[in-house]
Amino acid sequence: MKLSSRRILSLGLLLVALGGGWRMASDSSEAATQPQLEGQGAAAAEPKKTPLQLFMRKKLEATQKVMEGLVVEDYEMIAQGAKQLKAISAAADFVVVKEAMYTQHADEFRRVVDRLEKQAKEKRLDGAALANMDLTLSCIECHRFVRSTLITNK
Ligand code: HEC
Repeated sequence: MKLSSRRILSLGLLLVALGGGWRMASDSSEAATQPQLEGQGAAAAEPKKTPLQLFMRKKLEATQKVMEGLVVEDYEMIAQGAKQLKAISAAADFVVVKEAMYTQHADEFRRVVDRLEKQAKEKRLDGAALANMDLTLSCIECHRFVRSTLITNK
């Protein structure tokens, strides 16, 4: 198979099958226009969170911990948040079908988290703050990639 976005699509279908559906811009108005797959029974009816979505929610929580650590200058808290992010992303990436571009985004994310943790351990507030900005950008970039992939596959 070419290194196309088909694999991401198949992941999307898998997630739909798991009951959550693939929706990055997950406002409820979208639910009504979600394309339904045939023959998957009741699972598609309830908008349950997929494992990947739950991991991502955990990521969001961990970034809050990092943010709190930054604003009160608690390096231990920043490092803890970074550790959580690492563990969560390892688990989340395991769920995702490997695809070249996705893996690239995932690797970039890990690099930034490592840098964040290092800056926290060395008690560098500015460095940690900058790493946190890059972290946010890497969340956004991967999400942008995932969305655009889905659009081109439709
Ligand atoms: C390597 C790619 C990648 C990175 C990096 C990434 N995400 Fe995600 N994220 C995804 C994918 C794929 C989904 C879509 C899951 C779905 O809807 O099935 C998602 C969905 C989400 C969601 C929505 C979950 C829901 O309930 O629908 C949140 C919140 C989220 N991510 C937070 C984050 C945060 C915060 C970061 C950075 C700290 C981050 N993500 C970094 C790939 C990524």
